[in-house]
Amino acid sequence: MEYQITHYDLEQGALEIQYIEEFFGEFPRKKTAAEIIRRLQRRAHLILLASAPLPDDPGLVVPVSFKVAHEIKIDETEPKLADLVARLRDYVAFDRRRVLYTWIGGTRRDWRGQGHFRALTEQQEWWAIEQGFDEIVVKTKNRFYEMRGTLDHLRFEVVKYERNTTDNAESKVYLSKKLAPELIRTHRSAKTVVQVPV
Ligand SMILES: CC(C)(COP(=O)(O)OP(=O)(O)OC[C@H]1O[C@@H](n2cnc3c(N)ncnc32)[C@H](O)[C@@H]1OP(=O)(O)O)[C@@H](O)C(=O)NCCC(=O)NCCS
Repeated sequence: MEYQITHYDLEQGALEIQYIEEFFGEFPRKKTAAEIIRRLQRRAHLILLASAPLPDDPGLVVPVSFKVAHEIKIDETEPKLADLVARLRDYVAFDRRRVLYTWIGGTRRDWRGQGHFRALTEQQEWWAIEQGFDEIVVKTKNRFYEMRGTLDHLRFEVVKYERNTTDNAESKVYLSKKLAPELIRTHRSAKTVVQVPV
């Protein structure tokens, strides 16, 4: 199977992400395009979507999986990001290193387990290495079992566990993957990548 991946620019990508998030019943607070633009503008970022045919109308290709990432730096001033970096700084080295944070991502239910998220992850890693990033970090929760299982398969390592004392299912788990050019050799998804706009 050849995965179809689109690398979007900020404006169009933000709209695509807002659209695809509508299909995720499990996300309590969906991101708006304006919120996505606010977060990503003026920082290095990557918006990737995978598309696939509708099973009952194979002529129609729709977005099925997405991954949005941006750089985080030690001197973040935006409160949410400053808080994130403060929680990570003893676990992830920022000094003279570039760190990419995978902010949001997922695969629509009907297309799960078909390798779309792996294909996006491999493309993200390729791009990040090309851009000179040293590490990719991601945050999830204990109760997001599918995501934890997937990150395990994708060889992310837990770097921090933040216990929620009232409900352990809500505890936060921070994972990371160190980047090196050799990583590319482990990639296995065949894919076509299109940049939009061209
Ligand atoms: C997690 C999620 C993104 C996986 O997407 P996907 O497109 O189904 O993933 P893929 O098919 O590309 O699978 C990637 C790898 O993870 C594994 N995997 C996928 N789903 C899994 C699961 N539920 N449990 C364990 N492993 C899983 C696959 O076997 C594959 O490993 P392999 O390539 O070594 O065989 C998708 O299930 C999802 O969107 N879940 C909801 C998202 C969520 O909970 N978000 C909360 C915020 S973090």
